[in-house]
Amino acid sequence: MRRCAVARVRLPQPISSSTAGTRVPGHRYYSAHAQQQKKTHPIASDAYFSAPTTPKPLIRPDPYKLVAPELQQLRETLLDLLGSSHPSLTEIAKYYFLHPSKQLRPLLVLLFSQATNGLGGGWHLKKWAAECEGAGGRAEELDRPLTRPDVLNDWNPSMPDHTASFQSSFSLRPPRPPHQAPTPPPFPPPGIPTVASPLALLPTQVRLAQIVEMIHVASLLHDDVIDRSPLRRGAASAPAAFGNKLSVLAGDFLLGRTSAALSRLGESEVVELIASVIANLVEGEILQLKSVHAEELGIAGLSPSVGQDNWNIYLQKTYLKTASLMAKGARAAVVLGGCKEGEVWKEVAYAYGRNLGIAFQLVDDLLDYEAGEATLGKPGGADLQLGLATGPALFAWEEHPEMGPLIKRKFEQPGDVELARDLVRRSSGVERTRELARAHADKAREVLSVLPDSEAKGALEALTERVVKRTS
Ligand code: FPP
Ligand code: MG
Repeated sequence: MRRCAVARVRLPQPISSSTAGTRVPGHRYYSAHAQQQKKTHPIASDAYFSAPTTPKPLIRPDPYKLVAPELQQLRETLLDLLGSSHPSLTEIAKYYFLHPSKQLRPLLVLLFSQATNGLGGGWHLKKWAAECEGAGGRAEELDRPLTRPDVLNDWNPSMPDHTASFQSSFSLRPPRPPHQAPTPPPFPPPGIPTVASPLALLPTQVRLAQIVEMIHVASLLHDDVIDRSPLRRGAASAPAAFGNKLSVLAGDFLLGRTSAALSRLGESEVVELIASVIANLVEGEILQLKSVHAEELGIAGLSPSVGQDNWNIYLQKTYLKTASLMAKGARAAVVLGGCKEGEVWKEVAYAYGRNLGIAFQLVDDLLDYEAGEATLGKPGGADLQLGLATGPALFAWEEHPEMGPLIKRKFEQPGDVELARDLVRRSSGVERTRELARAHADKAREVLSVLPDSEAKGALEALTERVVKRTS
C-alpha cells in the first residue's frame, strides 16, 4: 500500500510561560483552558498533535439523533431560500432537496458547532450578537429575504409589495436610514471557557449548515450533467428529469443564493473559506476529468506504473471534490462560534473534516464495487463505466499488473469493465481501500481528543465509525 498523508492538527503559536493564563488577546482563554485540559486529557499537551490515543470509554450518542430536530428544521427552512421569480427554476433548484439525503455536511457543521461553542475567545461576542436585536446574528436578520428589495429591486412574485415593477423606468429611491448597531460587551465573563451547556447552536451556524448542503447540491446538479447520471437518490437525476441546461443553471442559481446567504453571516473568514471550497470542487472535478481525458486535453495522463503519482492524484482529487467541503465547513462553523486566530479549535475541525471526508469518499469508491442500485440509489460500477480508476482498482493494479492497460485505456474496450471488476474481486483492493478509509477515520477520531468531553464530541467520534462501516 502506498503511504498517504493523514491530516494532523497543526500546532497553534506556542504560548510562553510568562503569558500563559494571562490576558493576551486570542490566547488567554485557550491557554487557561489548555492548562486545565492537560490535567484531564493527557493528550492535550504540546505533544498531543501526533500521539496515538487510547480510546476512552465514552458515551457516544447517535450523531443523527443528537441533532435530529435541527436537521429536520434546517431541511424545511432551506426551501425558503430557493424561491425565484421563475417557477420552473424554483422547481429544479428544490428538486434534490425533496429526496432524503444523508445530510452529512450539515451534520458536521452542527456537531462541530456544539462541540466547540463556548471555547473560543470570541464566543461571548458571538453569543451576544445572536441574542441581541439588530446585532447581525439574530435569526430574524438572517431570515430577511436574500434579495433586498430596496437595493436589488428584483422582480419577485412572492414579494409583490416590495419589488419594483418593470413597467416604467426606475426612479431614485431615498436611502435607508443607517443601522445603529448596539454596543457589544467589552470583556468576556471571567472563568475558564467550557463547552456551552446545554449544547448551543447559533443561528449563523444553522444557516451555514444550510449553505454547505446547498453547495453540495449545486455540485451534484453539475456532476450529474458531467457524469450523464440517469439516477440520483433512487429517482431520475435532474438532467434526466429537466435536461442538462436547466440542471447547470439551477446549480448556478443555488450558488448565487448561497453567496448572498454567506455574506449575511458577517464573517469574512467564513466567506473566504467557503468560496475556496467552491473553487476546490471545480478543481477536483477537473483533476478527475484530466485523469480520464488527458489525451484530448493534451496533457500528461496516468503514470506508467501504479506508483506514488497515481495515488497522490487520486487522493488529492478526493480531498478537493469531497473532503474540502467537510473540512472547511466544519472549520467555518467553529469560526462562527468565536474561535480566534491562534486557537486550536478550528484546526481540530479542519483536520477532522479532512480525514473524515477522505474516509467517506474512499468508502464511496469501494461501494461502487460492492453495492448496487438497491442500496446506492444508482447502479454500481458507475466509476469504471466513466473510465475512473479509484482506490480498489489502484490496489488491484499492485496485485494484478494486467489492470494497468485497462486503466490506461479507461476501460473502453468491450469486456474491459467486466475484466476490471473481476481483477478487483480477485484482489484485496476493496479491503485495502476500507483499511485506508479506516486509517483516515481513526485519525479524525484521534484529533478530537483535544476537545473537552461533550455529547457532541461523542457523536463526532461515533460518526468516524459509521462512515467506515456504511453500506450505502
Ligand atoms: C459527486 O461525486 C460530485 C462531487 C462530490 C463534486 C462535483 C463537482 C463539480 C461538478 C464541480 C462544480 C461545482 C459546483 C459547486 C458548481 P461522484 O460522481 O463520485 O459521486 P456520485 O456517484 O454521487 O455522482
Ligand atoms: Mg457523479
